[in-house]
Amino acid sequence: MALAGNILLLLAIAISVNGRGNIDVGSPFGAFLIYHEVHEKGGIPLVYRNEEVFVKGVGNEIIRGINVQDLKGNALAHIKEGGLGYPNVTIELKSGVRGDGYKYLVDVFAI
Ligand SMILES: *[C@@H]1O[C@H](CO)[C@@H](O)[C@H](O)[C@H]1NC(C)=O
Repeated sequence: MALAGNILLLLAIAISVNGRGNIDVGSPFGAFLIYHEVHEKGGIPLVYRNEEVFVKGVGNEIIRGINVQDLKGNALAHIKEGGLGYPNVTIELKSGVRGDGYKYLVDVFAI
């Protein structure tokens, strides 16, 4: 449990250092790009926009790298479930401020 806590803490630090809506964890080196999609939503007054992106490798593939780029630079994203070392990942994409939309490029690498 302590180890899991430490890993979560490291992950949180890795995310906060990158700031804004960007996530860059793991290493794509030697891995294959298994997912590459732009996710975009327009703003609606007073509400946050959000969605969950689920990515799963084929067969026994394990996720080795996750790169989420906040193309508008004012949003928030986090890994909700799975991720590095797992066969799948659920990434939550969210606008940073009420009324704003977002635009993300999501890349996931696996071996
Ligand atoms: C994602 O991977 C985890 C860990 O192997 C597994 O328990 C879970 O069922 C998977 N989720 C889906 C929706 O495939």
